[in-house]
Amino acid sequence: MTVDKILVIGTSGQVGRSICGQLGTRPNVVYADHNASASNVKACDLADTTALSALILSERPKIIINCAAYTAVDLAEKEFDLAMKINGLAVEALAKAAQEISAVLIHYSTDYVFDGSGSLPWKESDKTSPVNAYGRTKLFGDEAVTKHCPNSGYVFRTQWVYDNDGKNFLNTMLRFGAEREDMSVVGDQIGAPTTSLVIAEFTLKALVKIAAGQMPAGIYNLVCRGEVSWHGFAEEIFKTARERGLPLKIRNLKKIESKDFPTPAARPKNSRLNLEKLERVLGENLPTWDAALTHLMSLRKN
Ligand SMILES: NC(=O)c1ccc[n+]([C@@H]2O[C@H](COP(=O)([O-])OP(=O)(O)OC[C@H]3O[C@@H](n4cnc5c(N)ncnc54)[C@H](OP(=O)(O)O)[C@@H]3O)[C@@H](O)[C@H]2O)c1
Repeated sequence: MTVDKILVIGTSGQVGRSICGQLGTRPNVVYADHNASASNVKACDLADTTALSALILSERPKIIINCAAYTAVDLAEKEFDLAMKINGLAVEALAKAAQEISAVLIHYSTDYVFDGSGSLPWKESDKTSPVNAYGRTKLFGDEAVTKHCPNSGYVFRTQWVYDNDGKNFLNTMLRFGAEREDMSVVGDQIGAPTTSLVIAEFTLKALVKIAAGQMPAGIYNLVCRGEVSWHGFAEEIFKTARERGLPLKIRNLKKIESKDFPTPAARPKNSRLNLEKLERVLGENLPTWDAALTHLMSLRKN
């Protein structure tokens, strides 16, 4: 692994925590977050692009990993300007600053840049057409990275991210499953649940390839292998939880359609992402979503 100076932006989210967990307290790593309460974390609010650019130009890292984003998908329908500031304009400023100091920029994006039509896994080069506000703001960020950092910008598109901590589908299912006998979950959106651990692990593998000059800049899908609906994912969560002896009341898990579970933001139905490009460059396969779930749950304290 490289000893170049690394700046990690966004340490408190799911991916940020996992990246921090893997990089640890190496002296060459600088952490920045908008809730910079710890003394070793620098203040960095993506909504303030002037301060963001100043941070990059003063720290002059060789590698920038941006884990921060506006991720409230439904709220983004009402808060489009704020979401665009953080997911779009800040990423544009970041890309320009990274280019100015010749730094590698790692940025994360989403399956929500696609409209979810068809049933084939989306390739990085496929036509984008977001169906919600969040997707539009993230797409602006993707295009800013490829435009302003054509030779050193990397966008990793991921999806259905979860971790043992925090607010996510896994923890919601375990909480509801412990309280309720009946539950309905959407069964017509298909994707690959991806742990933030897998994202962090494969980001670091990518950095090794980048350092060796073996990974061209651009957009890469970074998700677990395989596919499942949210309903199927919930079934597997409960199966794994039972195997681990977690207390569950849930008896009936009903499969419903997206139209029966209306949300402020529309969601794409076909969220399958094609992994060929990343697996070819890395020379290895991503873990399957169910193996990653089992592994993550084996690390759970409760
Ligand atoms: N979660 C998913 O299912 C999913 C799916 C596809 C793609 N992605 C992408 O993957 C990346 C990581 O997502 P994640 O799941 O780790 O998200 P997350 O857990 O919601 O974390 C996002 C982080 O960004 C921080 N943040 C928000 N506004 C900020 C600002 N103005 N300045 C600095 N930091 C700010 C948040 O801090 P606070 O918590 O304090 O607000 C939080 O620490 C993002 O680019 C996201 O778009 C996620």
